[in-house]
Amino acid sequence: MSGSKGFNCAAAVRGLILWVLIANIMLVLYCLTATSPVIIRPTQEEMCRLSIEQTSPNVLTEISNSEQKCSPKVNIMFMKTHKTASSTILNILFRFGEKHQLKFALPDRRNDFCYPQPFLCSQVKDYRPGECFNIVCNHMRFNYEEVTKLLPSDAVYVTILRDPVDLFESAFHYYHRTVPFTWRIRGENKLTEFLNNPKAFYSPEAFNSFYLKNLLFFDFGLDNNLEVNDPRVMEGIRYLSKRFQLVLIAEYFEESLILLKDLLCWSMEDILYFKLNARRTSSVSRLDPEMRAKALQWNWADWKLYEHFNVTFWERVEAYGRQRMEQEVNELRRRNAEMSANCIEGGNAVEAQKIKDTHFQPWQPIGEKSIMGYNLRKDIDPKSSTICEKMLTPEIQYLSELGVNLWVTRLWGWLKDYIL
Ligand SMILES: *[C@@H]1O[C@H](CO)[C@@H](O)[C@H](O)[C@H]1NC(C)=O
Repeated sequence: MSGSKGFNCAAAVRGLILWVLIANIMLVLYCLTATSPVIIRPTQEEMCRLSIEQTSPNVLTEISNSEQKCSPKVNIMFMKTHKTASSTILNILFRFGEKHQLKFALPDRRNDFCYPQPFLCSQVKDYRPGECFNIVCNHMRFNYEEVTKLLPSDAVYVTILRDPVDLFESAFHYYHRTVPFTWRIRGENKLTEFLNNPKAFYSPEAFNSFYLKNLLFFDFGLDNNLEVNDPRVMEGIRYLSKRFQLVLIAEYFEESLILLKDLLCWSMEDILYFKLNARRTSSVSRLDPEMRAKALQWNWADWKLYEHFNVTFWERVEAYGRQRMEQEVNELRRRNAEMSANCIEGGNAVEAQKIKDTHFQPWQPIGEKSIMGYNLRKDIDPKSSTICEKMLTPEIQYLSELGVNLWVTRLWGWLKDYIL
């Protein structure tokens, strides 16, 4: 009795295993056939929206009412550099793209394109060869040949730079805990200790070391370890000046946005912003002139890069018209102030601990909470509530809303906040 029962049981288990196997094979077959559809794929030009008029006729009227006659550009590569106010630009691009239903090339499972690996199309979420996108704007290590495969040929390439000394200070503060060689630096002020003798700590091969030497050069896919007076620095700069139609300067952020608006034929409304991802001023260490000079020498390639594009930037402002620029900047400030009053509780940024809604909580560096954020006004006018929310949404949350499943980033965030 018990023997035959045992036999039945074994047979049942074998049967079950067989069924599970068959079901799995069916599933695999189904997936294989489902991912190789026989649909005739449209050409790149057909798949990509080349202008806004095709779907939103009202945009064109709005623009032609103003002095300019052009149609808004929708194909954009924004090379997002680190620690340069680029998160604020990202928010502007996200809003514009959402409003006009443009197609973003988004990263997959995380908020960057596998940085610090050089960019590859295969890192784009749902990428298939020939697929066309309107906007690429997340962190990457720039790789021009790969980026061109994603965008229509009329795409506008834009980026932003910041004074390399301030950028270095900011990167040091933000990333030093993720760069192991800094763990050996003793003393109260690690930054000064490092700058007094960088060679004692730094090696190009050390893990994550690129965060602490010529980070801009690195982001652009160039060699960040070129030393002072290396001719390859100028070569790199010439290369970039051929690729990018506009290089913004973080120190002149409002002027930068006006030039951007002009180049893209956008409206003032499109470039309104709240400063996102800014650091509490008390956590910023001011470098004295001696330390500044050392930081400059150490980041010489970035310095030359910045110097070059600062000059071209002001040439652009000159061409645009100084007075016209001043008027536009004033108008931008006025409208931003209006938005702050409408949207932000208290009208100003607050420390992370004081942000009530996690939706508006910005991402923080390991081991501290120095990045500020905002609270949405409670008694907000329903007409402005959507735009206010979008303008205040930090990068990570916005990416989730755009459909990126950020589990790698979230897992890292959780480890960072609760374990490290
Ligand atoms: C950038 O250009 C402006 C205008 O010419 C100048 O005042 C400023 O000193 C420049 N900055 C650097 C760091 O070269």
